[in-house]
Amino acid sequence: MGNLIFMGPPGAGKGTQAVRLANALGLVHLSTGDLLRNAIKEKTELGMKAKSFMDRGDLVPDSVMIDMVMEPVRQAVAQSGFILDGFPRTLAQAKALDKAFLDEGIEVSSVIHLHCDDEVIVKRLSGRRVCPVSNQVFHITDNPPKVAGFSDAAPGVALVLRDDDQEHVIRRRLEVYRENTLPILEHYRGARGVVAVDGLLPVDTVTELIMNSLQVK
Ligand code: AP5
Repeated sequence: MGNLIFMGPPGAGKGTQAVRLANALGLVHLSTGDLLRNAIKEKTELGMKAKSFMDRGDLVPDSVMIDMVMEPVRQAVAQSGFILDGFPRTLAQAKALDKAFLDEGIEVSSVIHLHCDDEVIVKRLSGRRVCPVSNQVFHITDNPPKVAGFSDAAPGVALVLRDDDQEHVIRRRLEVYRENTLPILEHYRGARGVVAVDGLLPVDTVTELIMNSLQVK
């Protein structure tokens, strides 16, 4: 089982599920959000360019994203396969990916769409806390760490609230998702089929449904 694409609105649980599935299936988790946040932390040219878009809840321009993602994708294919989380996010990105995959003989096994409800998303993201070292994701009430406020994966490291997890930015991200990213689902539905999974269900149930759709025991 290799090469999965996870789609869905911000906060639907893409990152949470991608980490679980990547561990279970031995795939490489490629989150474009994490790649960008690492670039910002390291103050690279890319990071400096991306930050203002991300802080507003807008998308980073396609040309930057397409250049950024292809090399990690190739490296993941050479290992065991990938779970792409957060890419593609526009039709232009989806078409660039289709072309690259066709040229390089890369197959996608499944496109998983996690769907969710806007008000649940606002609650989830306002309560989300992230480990700045491991990128492990928690929720203050629904998925708390073992020690309140601190990471499980990196003991002693304080969890942080992402800059784009403030309510007005979350609502902007939802608008951007509807405008730019939802149309890709139609593109994939026509081309290859999409597996829809209810992201409102408990985390373990969502993992099980995805595993079942991949026919992994
Ligand atoms: P990115 O980091 O990709 O953010 P996102 O897509 O908005 O998704 P999130 O990480 O917010 O949510 P998620 O679905 O992963 O949910 P999670 O599992 O964390 O992108 C950030 C920004 O980068 C973008 O806005 C854009 O500016 C830029 N960017 C990235 N990719 C780009 C691209 N391709 N093109 C252009 N720009 C790009 O879960 C959320 C919370 O809910 C957690 O607290 C979790 O514990 C909890 N939770 C998860 N599942 C459940 C459940 N089933 N029940 C209860 N709680 C749950």
